[in-house]
Amino acid sequence: MAEASLDAGTPAGTPAAPPFRPGLEGVPATQSAICDIDGRKGILSYRGYAVDDLASQSSFLETAYLLVWGTLPTASQLEEFQQEVQMHRRVSFRIRDMMKSFPSAGHPMDALQSSAASLGLFYSRRALDNPEYIYGAVVRLIAKIPTMVAAFQLIRKGQDPIQPRDDLPYAANFLYMLTEREPDPLAARIFDACLILHAEHSLNASTFSARVTASTLTDPYAVVASAVGTLAGPLHGGANEDVLEMLELIGTEDRVEAWLDQAIAEKQKIMGFGHREYKVKDPRAVILQQLAEQLFDQFGHDPMYDLARKLEAVAADRLGPKGIYPNVDFYSGLVYRKLGIPEDLFTPIFAIARVAGWLAHWKEQLGANRIYRPSQIYTGPSGLTWQPLSER
Ligand code: CMC
Repeated sequence: MAEASLDAGTPAGTPAAPPFRPGLEGVPATQSAICDIDGRKGILSYRGYAVDDLASQSSFLETAYLLVWGTLPTASQLEEFQQEVQMHRRVSFRIRDMMKSFPSAGHPMDALQSSAASLGLFYSRRALDNPEYIYGAVVRLIAKIPTMVAAFQLIRKGQDPIQPRDDLPYAANFLYMLTEREPDPLAARIFDACLILHAEHSLNASTFSARVTASTLTDPYAVVASAVGTLAGPLHGGANEDVLEMLELIGTEDRVEAWLDQAIAEKQKIMGFGHREYKVKDPRAVILQQLAEQLFDQFGHDPMYDLARKLEAVAADRLGPKGIYPNVDFYSGLVYRKLGIPEDLFTPIFAIARVAGWLAHWKEQLGANRIYRPSQIYTGPSGLTWQPLSER
């Protein structure tokens, strides 16, 4: 990785500036007790609990509580949290009306970013040192983000959004609001596990964005809106959509080798592969692959899965030696496709889950805040002579 130093020209007695690292690779930008990643062993834990255990034993809301408040809830704390989230699922008719004026061909991530930001207009009181305010904002965001994602899906099809159902748990209710059908219990359970797997991942780009925004002491809706905008990019959350497009483009298993060799020769990034932190297969990809197989066993096989496995096998040979293996996005799209979810909702679903991690980081940032203000290495001109417009 290229490095440049500020040493040259630093006045005597001034401490040498640290080397420049593009993308801040390897540069600690905060201290955090939320999430730990061992990228060489492929281990991920939230607040000390292995993500494998959480995905198989916990629920998304319990995991969200753990992330934000740092400990597993007691039965009564969980009950109260679930009830509060359930009570705040509805969004104002004014937000729904605003969403009806969005272009129906617009990307659902843009719709989500705008509607998340609009919450700040409705809940404008800001009391960042008040635990009740923090609790209320966490509940409101976790409750309303799925409703807004499902609402835009129906609105863009020319339908009215449907109201959340109080008798359905969090994941099942989202699938119901999206498809207007009560989901199969296995499908709902698997979807809930997907939310757990996507809930947190240390200082990824959107979480960094959330912490930078939080450090200005703005409101939590602006924090989440800025993180949603960051998640939307194809190098981050947006990759899960691109994986299915890539598999559709490859088409058949016999074309995998030739396609991959050409893509590598053209220096293309293979979507759903590679990670700044992991040099082995992402542990979330391992679990998502198992979840995909459970879905195929229950609801029928998807030939695209065979294609994906072939691509993984061929890529292990070509990219494995560089530490490039499937990441979380490689198999998640196949799970969502089997659940009947449209491709451009994959990233908004990532956001529904990651809001838990963003809020955990928001709360942690407020606990020991200092505004983010890194330095830069200026590379532009200096001392230029002003030219009047008539002489340019
Ligand atoms: N396909 C082919 N080569 C790759 C890939 C890939 N997916 N990822 C990294 N490389 C190569 C890259 O070409 C470079 O090679 P060289 O040293 O010969 O120039 C080397 O590996 C280092 O790549 P980098 O881009 O500097 O690595 P990074 O740590 O900056 O990027 C990444 C990490 C995730 C952005 C990158 O692996 C990538 O673009 N992957 C594809 C997009 C993707 O799947 N994103 C989802 C990431 S996981 C979920 C999330 O964060 O939201």
